Amino acid sequence: MCGIVGYVGDRLAAPILLDGLSRLEYRGYDSAGIAVVESGKALTVRKASGKLSVLVESMKGAAPTGFSGIGHTRWATHGGPTEVNAHPHTDSNKNVVIVHNGIVENYLELKERLQAEGHRFTSETDSEVIAHLMESLMGRGLVFEEAVRMTAQRIQGAQAVVAMNVQEPGTLVAFRLGNAGGITVGYGQREMFLASDLPALLPHTSQVAFLAPGEMVSVDAREARFRSVQGAPIHKSPQAAPYDAVAIAKDGYRHFMLKEIMEQPGTVHRAIGGRVSFEPADVLLPDFPFTPAQVREVNRIVLTGMGTSLHACMVARYYMEQIAGVPAEIDNSSELRYRNPILDSRTLVVSVSQSGETADTLGAMEEAARSGAKQITICNVEGSQTTRMAHGTVFIGVGPEIGVASTKCLTGSLAALYLLATYLGKVRGTVDQARMTGLLNDLASAPRLIGQALEQREAFGRLAHEYADYYNFLYLGRGINMPVAMEGALKLKEVSYIHAEGYPAGEMKHGPIALISKDMPVVALAPRDHLYDKMRSNIQEVKARGGKVLALVTQGHHDLAGVADGLIEMPSTPYLVSPIVNVVPLQLLAYHMALERGCDVDQPRNLAKTVTVE
Ligand code: AGP
Repeated sequence: MCGIVGYVGDRLAAPILLDGLSRLEYRGYDSAGIAVVESGKALTVRKASGKLSVLVESMKGAAPTGFSGIGHTRWATHGGPTEVNAHPHTDSNKNVVIVHNGIVENYLELKERLQAEGHRFTSETDSEVIAHLMESLMGRGLVFEEAVRMTAQRIQGAQAVVAMNVQEPGTLVAFRLGNAGGITVGYGQREMFLASDLPALLPHTSQVAFLAPGEMVSVDAREARFRSVQGAPIHKSPQAAPYDAVAIAKDGYRHFMLKEIMEQPGTVHRAIGGRVSFEPADVLLPDFPFTPAQVREVNRIVLTGMGTSLHACMVARYYMEQIAGVPAEIDNSSELRYRNPILDSRTLVVSVSQSGETADTLGAMEEAARSGAKQITICNVEGSQTTRMAHGTVFIGVGPEIGVASTKCLTGSLAALYLLATYLGKVRGTVDQARMTGLLNDLASAPRLIGQALEQREAFGRLAHEYADYYNFLYLGRGINMPVAMEGALKLKEVSYIHAEGYPAGEMKHGPIALISKDMPVVALAPRDHLYDKMRSNIQEVKARGGKVLALVTQGHHDLAGVADGLIEMPSTPYLVSPIVNVVPLQLLAYHMALERGCDVDQPRNLAKTVTVE
């Protein structure tokens, strides 16, 4: 969602802020702005609707020249994506300026009160009340830092805020409430940085500290002072950032999404590596938080996440049942959190979130914590909120994912979930040494098989050319590849804006079949597994109704050649590993369809990389 940057030091702030914002563009946004205090203490605010390039263009030759400032990319919640609604927002007298991520749930009540006091509002946003509230509190005699702290106590909901005040331009004050995204402090030489995400900081420093919910920080060019929003001092030392800048470059690829698809043989290898041994075969999860007795008392696993991470959960249900031997269910986090689910200390809740900051997943985890359930999270970002909330984390370990459409994090999280299930199975006695060897050998084949799938990369450009003019797609799959069909449809929607639905193939006759026509291609996952014959029948049913079928099949099995309109041939893959491999061609198809339609692949409209509001 919104991206935040802040700078204070002895260099010109504007170029640093704009560069930082450009490194957060991947998060998804619809307008951008910066505020800089110029010498003579004037506050300059520059904003623009649309892409960051519009803002940069508007400032050519006229960039503000101060040495401290804040910047923001906005993902609209309250009020459209206009220049007026873009951040930063100021108070009535342009003394206080803020950038904000999250939703001020009591903003209407606060706004009415502030308007009655004489504050003049200019935008439709909830965020603007924050600046006015700080102004109001300073008017009652509070120094700036205290006004920020009191504001944090009066606004409701999850937020991350950075504030600046023209009277003290060398100080930025930030706070974090709940889980609306993070605030990271970057330590430089005689300069300090603030950002919602690491990529904005990494060109400048690798020494960072993270704000936890309920914490605030005041930074000047020399130091950062942490407190709780209740006022208690907190000691925090900078630590080494978990990513490096090289890892987030495009490496010569046209888009991050393509780079991240293509690097999956390596990233899946990384997700597995270090956690398995082969002589003898074993899974090693050294930081696993539960004792063998606690693992054995688990009688149910609830897998939860959103979007692509929910699809990972749907696949992992097979892992938990078939490998670990534990009944497993899946639940969309936004539903789980409000359903008063029946969970207890014998339930293991496994949450999946590549970012570790998804508001709904965090809400579901809070609900699980209240009921005393055991919690493991699967996450790609060290230090993120889910990793602090769960009892233990299995890191995905695939390096930063910048494309908004998740690709390598899915295959990495599937590998992590497979390892988790294998570990649970070992402890619970469902995985003996022979099975362990088989399971790990199967998983170890995934990087090679993904590599083989990627060898056909060129073919997807041609397929996309053939299919890009259709407006609706149906994706069908069965068994463990049913969630892959759903993920294929999600990828296509996200990056090419083509309407697509993923269904269990068996469900087709119960409604979706009414949609079948020559104008709605069906992408059918038909690998040679125990469900192949049923899938083949479903494909025949589509063809019998004049439908067009693009079938994903196992290499060397050509009996669909005369039936389907197009074939994507995949290497033969062990059943439980097959989703990790079969999703790759669907990612490539979505990518090339988006290119064919001229879409902004890495920053699709309306989407955000980290969804920090409900
Ligand atoms: C994936 O392509 C999407 N951008 C989205 O569905 C995403 O998977 C979802 O928002 C969950 O994110 P998380 O893994 O960071 O929790």
